[in-house]
Amino acid sequence: MNSKILVTGGAGYIGSHTVVELLEKNYEVVIIDNLSNSRIESLDGIQAITGARPAFEKFDLCDREKVDAFFKENIDISAVIHFAASKAVGESVENPLKYYRNNLVSLMNILESMERYHVPNLVFSSSCTVYGQAKTLPVTENTPILPASSPYGNTKQVSEEIIRDTIFTSDFNKAISLRYFNPIGAHPSTLIGELPLGIPDNLVPFVTQTGIGIREKLRVFGSDYNTPDGSAIRDYLHVVDLAKAHVVAIERLLAGKNKAEFEVFNLGTGNGVSVFEMIQSFEKVSGKKLNYEVVDRRAGDIEQIWADTSLANDELGWRTLSTLDEAVKTAWEWEKHYRSLNPQN
Ligand code: NAD
Ligand code: WQD
Repeated sequence: MNSKILVTGGAGYIGSHTVVELLEKNYEVVIIDNLSNSRIESLDGIQAITGARPAFEKFDLCDREKVDAFFKENIDISAVIHFAASKAVGESVENPLKYYRNNLVSLMNILESMERYHVPNLVFSSSCTVYGQAKTLPVTENTPILPASSPYGNTKQVSEEIIRDTIFTSDFNKAISLRYFNPIGAHPSTLIGELPLGIPDNLVPFVTQTGIGIREKLRVFGSDYNTPDGSAIRDYLHVVDLAKAHVVAIERLLAGKNKAEFEVFNLGTGNGVSVFEMIQSFEKVSGKKLNYEVVDRRAGDIEQIWADTSLANDELGWRTLSTLDEAVKTAWEWEKHYRSLNPQN
């Protein structure tokens, strides 16, 4: 058995896919999740795929005493991957304090315990949202961080600053912040995937839910952007590729191969894809016509962004392997499989 890794938010979308990759590499995994945005069934999926069931503790990471007691009892943890956070941009505008509390208090509780119990290694879930609408594309890790356009985005900026400030003063002394672009898709087994509660904010779950008939039509937010087809452009990467990057980051920290105490990597494909291209991909892989209409731009949306992935490619030796169609296909297969088992949800 390899080292023991704490995965916060490990029942969630990206966390569950990462736990699969860790277990397949023989890491011992313990998850903390309060199931505020996930279901316990994701652990069944993880077990069905890997044959192993990760240890699981259900509690809120904002509870300082519980976090401390957990680290005290699990003194053999080598590294933490911190996924747990609230992530709905619109909700963060309406209820900013919920976001500042959940995302920042949980991080500070973890860092305090990592310091107290001498856990040196952290991988943090950051986001391309920290770049806002960059002036030049693609964005590198040195592209200036712009004032955040939402409280959610600000929690990611502030979290990175908290980690950077803490690292030099404590026994927690190595961190990698991974700035994800737009993760999509599901594990090819269709046993785990994205399960947004309620109406999806994100494009791909909305597309697949429209395809299966849960939503009547997709609204394309704007076709008057300064892009080749007028719709907005993002860098969509397969969640399994993204999950594998976490294993690479953990291995880098455990082997002491990091080149600085605090490192930042963009994780994307390096390709920009428009909303209309996403619809075409869905129609191709599903064989279905998607019902959609063009409406006004969504407030707060940026026009276009995609990643310069050279640093992750060169330093981590990581790159995405799935094409857009392959990733969209897994999202569609997951949607069909999940709805066939859970027609009421
Ligand atoms: P998710 O909501 O599926 O997973 C987050 C998990 O954390 C959930 O299972 C939730 O129950 C848990 N959680 C939240 N607050 C908690 C708390 N206080 N205590 C314990 N558990 C708590 O989200 P995801 O898409 O898997 O995102 C994971 C991380 O990646 C988040 O930090 C998110 O901000 C970041 N991220 C996501 C995206 C994306 O598009 N999905 C893009 C960039 C960054
Ligand atoms: C993608 C594109 C929409 C829904 C968000 C967060 C970001 C990061 C990733 C966490 C945009 C368009 C969408 C729909 C549409 N998350 N769209 N109709 O906005 O790039 O990023 O998730 O860190 O912080 O802001 O992703 O999937 O919501 O939208 O036309 O019903 O699809 O306008 O151009 P986004 P998204």
